[in-house]
Amino acid sequence: MAQLLTNNDKRTCYCAELSEKDIGKKVCVMGWAQRQRDLGGLIFIDLRDRSGIIQLAFDSDTEKAVFDDAFTVRAEFVLCAHGTVRARSSVNPNIPTGNIEIAVSELKILSAAQTPPFEIVENSKVNPELRLKHRYLDLRRPDMQGNIIARSKITKIARDYYAENGFMDIETPCLIKPSPEGARDYLVPSRVHPGRFYALPQSPQLYKQLLMVSGFDRYFQIARCFRDEDLRADRQPEFTQLDTEMSFASADEVMAVHEGFIKYLFKEFFGKELGYDFPKMPYREAMERYGSDKPDVRFGFELKNLSDILATCEFKVFAGAIADGGSVRGINVKGGARFTRKEIDSLTEYAKTYKAKGLAWLKIAENGEISSSYAKFLTDAENEAIKTAMEAENGDLILIVADKNKVVFDALGNLRCECAKRMGLLRADDFKFLWVTEFPLLEWSEEDERFYAMHHPFTSPMDEDMQYIESDPGRVRAKAYDIVLNGTELGGGSVRIHSEDIQKKMFELLGLTIEEANEKFGYLLEAFKYGVPPHAGLAFGLDRLVTLLLGLEDIRDVIAFPKVQNASELMSGAPGVADPKGLDELCIKVTAENE
Ligand code: AMO
Ligand code: AMP
Repeated sequence: MAQLLTNNDKRTCYCAELSEKDIGKKVCVMGWAQRQRDLGGLIFIDLRDRSGIIQLAFDSDTEKAVFDDAFTVRAEFVLCAHGTVRARSSVNPNIPTGNIEIAVSELKILSAAQTPPFEIVENSKVNPELRLKHRYLDLRRPDMQGNIIARSKITKIARDYYAENGFMDIETPCLIKPSPEGARDYLVPSRVHPGRFYALPQSPQLYKQLLMVSGFDRYFQIARCFRDEDLRADRQPEFTQLDTEMSFASADEVMAVHEGFIKYLFKEFFGKELGYDFPKMPYREAMERYGSDKPDVRFGFELKNLSDILATCEFKVFAGAIADGGSVRGINVKGGARFTRKEIDSLTEYAKTYKAKGLAWLKIAENGEISSSYAKFLTDAENEAIKTAMEAENGDLILIVADKNKVVFDALGNLRCECAKRMGLLRADDFKFLWVTEFPLLEWSEEDERFYAMHHPFTSPMDEDMQYIESDPGRVRAKAYDIVLNGTELGGGSVRIHSEDIQKKMFELLGLTIEEANEKFGYLLEAFKYGVPPHAGLAFGLDRLVTLLLGLEDIRDVIAFPKVQNASELMSGAPGVADPKGLDELCIKVTAENE
């Protein structure tokens, strides 16, 4: 029988807040039984709450009824215990409260518990599906508690910082007009307007721009966003942005404010100074040097362009790629000569997952002995020129890809990270932030034979590139910037277009007629007619920020109730089948067969 709390049962502290200086104090604690040990005339219960564990002791001095209750306690029972703090006879050095215990005078079993499907301990090896099915139990584990509590601290620090810097916390709607921002919308049917739909926001983009038109000047929101995309370790269908917008600010001012946040966060959260200014690297340079627009700069292995050396070589794989408008590039994996043939084969397979047709390699052992997949196809002069360009030394492994530029960048950009990972060079507590700037305004889609906005249609072109907007739009760079940490895009933003002419031009480049643009974004264009300040903004992916700060790899570990790969939630079973009556009312007919 569950016992009830009375007015006398006032918790005096969390379990792990107690220490030696509390010896002799009368206390009341509440929590879950981690385990109960019955040693005959002695019973110990480890009591756990979100702060940690304290030992409850029951012995010959304990009143019989209390002792008998303690005897019935099992793991995960919820308890209230009154007692006196005393020194422990056998000290447990593994927990912070290991030298004290509570001699219990009164015990209430507030709730019994079935044996849980897995033990509530740190670093559980239980399979992830079972953990997610019983997420409320998984969240009891100290490491998950730590993650969620850390996330709460980080959002508090963010609110403090942005409020301190004049940003207003303003909520924007979640039921909005369907409007594409790259990825797919989640739709919500309207009952009042049968056949019409709301969309859940992919981001508060248009609303935050409208708040600038309204004169709020600096906006901030911890905003839930929804994107019907394929899931990955760093992507969820619903996720949280730390979203901002500023009026009358340049790209540099926006970047300075947010860099200031990251530095403030490090000081408040880790008590540590991030003692460097974040480098600003143009997109072009990031691609040339790292093969990625979100480079991990914790290590070298930079890309080198070998096309000049190899344009006229006899080896068709290399010369052919260059003749087709592509390139031949390589990385020097310093110390990579320790990779065996088998490991190089597996790197080749890895490169192929990024559409490389093959991987050419050259290994120089510590003793200078050379083995290679391509050297025999080249002249001595060409081989020497490659080694010089790659600054090759004993112990190195040169990896080369020849293909279209996109494939070369993708394959080598990922290979350099994969090699660093396999060599154990990546430390999660080595935080290397940078800004990637000067992104292309537009991205050409071969498949659809049209341009798409690389960031979104409201991002401003760079002034110095306006001259190419008619003749060579693909060459125009944008006032867009991403903040990158250790190979992850943490956040992105841009200076927005606030001139009607440029906005019209942008829609034209995206293949939208004025009518279509009005249909989609009319309210924004209309608003801009009434006096719009120049404005710019940025959104951090909060889940990603917390994940990286905590040295984790999967954003699910910092989201209380995440979804799995196929976008379902294992605990509740969402998404579910809708009530047919409700569907009728919405004028919706389901044609899919339900499994
Ligand atoms: P963007 O689309 O770049 O910009 O998103 C900003 C940041 O949000 C995070 N993010 C995600 N995190 C988890 N799961 C996802 N599916 C996901 N998608 C994005 C990333 C990303 O950098 N409105 C603009 C911002 C602006 O221009 O101000 C926007 O949404 O960390
Ligand atoms: P092959 O002539 O096909 O035997 O290839 C010789 C070497 O070149 C092998 O090591 C291949 O893996 C490598 N190779 C093939 N295609 C490419 C490519 N597109 N880029 C780099 N190396 C390649």
